Amino acid sequence: MTTNENKFQEIISHAKEYGFVFPSSEIYDGLSAVYDYGPYGSELKKNIRDYWWKSMTQMNENIVGIDAAIFMHPTTWKASGHVDNFSDPMIDNRDSNKRYRVDHLIEALADKLKEEGKAQEADDLIAKMDRLLAAEDFTNLKELLISNNIVCSVSGTANWTDIRQFNLMFSTQVGSVAEEADTIYLRPETAQGIFVNFLNVQKTARMKIPFGIAQTGKAFRNEIVARQFIFRMREFEQMEMQFFIRPGSQMQWYEYWKEARLNWHLSLGIPREKYRYHDHVKLAHYADAALDIEYEFPFGFKEVEGIHSRTDFDLKNHQLLSGKKLQYFDNDINPATGKPYGNYIPYVVETSIGLDRMFLLILSQSYELETLTKEDESTDTRVVMHIPAKIAPVKLAILPLVKKDGLPELARKLMDECKQNFRCFYEEKDAIGKRYRRQDAIGTPFCVTIDHQTKEDNTVTIRYRDSMKQERIAMSEVRDLVMKNTL
Ligand code: GAP
Repeated sequence: MTTNENKFQEIISHAKEYGFVFPSSEIYDGLSAVYDYGPYGSELKKNIRDYWWKSMTQMNENIVGIDAAIFMHPTTWKASGHVDNFSDPMIDNRDSNKRYRVDHLIEALADKLKEEGKAQEADDLIAKMDRLLAAEDFTNLKELLISNNIVCSVSGTANWTDIRQFNLMFSTQVGSVAEEADTIYLRPETAQGIFVNFLNVQKTARMKIPFGIAQTGKAFRNEIVARQFIFRMREFEQMEMQFFIRPGSQMQWYEYWKEARLNWHLSLGIPREKYRYHDHVKLAHYADAALDIEYEFPFGFKEVEGIHSRTDFDLKNHQLLSGKKLQYFDNDINPATGKPYGNYIPYVVETSIGLDRMFLLILSQSYELETLTKEDESTDTRVVMHIPAKIAPVKLAILPLVKKDGLPELARKLMDECKQNFRCFYEEKDAIGKRYRRQDAIGTPFCVTIDHQTKEDNTVTIRYRDSMKQERIAMSEVRDLVMKNTL
């Protein structure tokens, strides 16, 4: 295993051991590509979602939110193109009966070539794959696998079937009697709930173009190749925003959101060099321009967020299939004609980020196995999660040095003062060093210790997670200090 693979395995174990992420229905040996979030995981996930929601809606007066249902009228997915186009090219190995996504097989080879220092060869391979995928030339795509000696990791053979397209949508039935039941889909993206509500929102919130509609919620995809922990899941959560604009202005807004969204990531203190943009060569069926914001995970640079210029594809098709007008009357004056812009179907620039993928990004960026040199020159280690304080699951741990002499009472008093404002954690068991380590492992940015001196002068020791620095401050200052640094 490489150092990065080791690190990734350590992160997965740590996530389970400290209550961030568990395999789903683990007592039955789990369910592939489905995960549950534990006590600290659910807090962290909620904090990431809130941070996104606030930055999109509260900080932008022209963006409002909705919460649409997961189930939608089945025609929605015909109009959106998902019934006909939402599929991945898959190939089976006849010896092992294992199924693979063709682009993943080729990308894995490209990653290997890069590790061997053959970056140009890797880039050429990916460029060739992108061209063949864009042209849906599956004969030559299969040839690309064979000519590059890409084999099944289980059977070790290149005994491949032809490449076929598999639709990724899950379907189910509504209606109690089988014969009367209608097939509906579990939404594969949250975006369509926004499109079908475009006029409801525009009218009720009295929005003027340009404006946005934001939504967070579950999405479902029957991913055939489930890999890399919570990176690719069958049930996951998206945070999406559709920005409705005048036709023709899409490139200007595409550039705007490309920069704005990267800045959101950087606002969490994540270094710029951990990110890169990746322009799409093969465009999704709805887009006239698209890019990924990629982050350098322990397994390489991978997509965390997409910025898509979706034109009027979705609204136009919903208008066509529903027979309902989905237009906007723009009474601003068009300087080119001197007349109002009039009626049109708006164009859309979308920002779409996976909440679970952002969560994995935060785990990957935060996890550190730190070696500490003690005063006597001997060494020790600690696992510390440098989770940005704004989204840390617990903001403050309150720790009485001993569980007697009135110290727990003082600690409880501080707890009551703080817990209205942010998440606190109270603990009196074990030596203080051990308690600090447990807080480091879940990413708590501040710990305060209540000791005998507190009884005399109302001061406490505050200890900072990242620097491990400790200082004495007045107990009355604790709440404001934590709020100032975490909200
Ligand atoms: N509405 C556009 C859309 O859904 P996408 O690129 O297919 O675009 C957007 O997905 C984001 O959703 C991705 O950048 C990724 O973060 C997340 N995502 C997509 N599929 C996922 C999966 N199977 N598991 C976890 N996250 C996923």
